[in-house]
Amino acid sequence: AIERTFSIIKPNAVAQNVIGEIERRFEQAGLTIIAMKMLKLTREEAEGFYAEHKGKPFFAGLIDFMTSGPMIVQVLEGENAIHHNRELMGATDPAKAAPGTIRADFGSHEQVSANAVHGSDSPISAAREIRYFFTEDELFPH
Ligand code: CMP
Repeated sequence: AIERTFSIIKPNAVAQNVIGEIERRFEQAGLTIIAMKMLKLTREEAEGFYAEHKGKPFFAGLIDFMTSGPMIVQVLEGENAIHHNRELMGATDPAKAAPGTIRADFGSHEQVSANAVHGSDSPISAAREIRYFFTEDELFPH
C-alpha cells in the first residue's frame, strides 16, 4: 500500500553537506518527498519528539546531539514507505549497518545518535511524527 513515513536528515549529515546525496537515494528508490523544512530543534521540541526514549542511558546525549545544529525534517511517500525507508537507512548503529545503506555511509562510528537519519518505525509513529512537525496544509501529496 502507499504509505507516508517521517524522516530526519540529522545535524551530522547536514554538516557533512550530504543532504542532496541522501535525498537522491530516497528519490532513486521511488520515494517521493511530499513535505520538507530545515530547522534547529529546541531542547523541549527534541525531548517531546523522543519522549519514548526518556530515561534511557543515551537520552541526554541524543538530545544534545539533535539540538546541536540544523536538520531536515520531511515526509516521504511511496509503496511500503515505512519499511522501504528503514531498509535504505540500515541498522540504527552505523557500525552494524549493511554496506551501502545511508547510516553505514554517513553515520558516525563513534556516536550512535549521529546516525545520519531517522525514520518512523511503524504506521502509528509515522502519523504521530508527521503531525509533530507538519500541518495538513504543509503536505503536498504527489
Ligand atoms: P533514531 O531513529 O533517531 O531514534 C532514536 C535514536 O537514539 C536512534 O536513532 C539513535 O540515533 C539514538 N541512539 C543512541 N544510542 C542508542 C542506543 N544505544 N540504542 C538505540 N538508539 C540509540
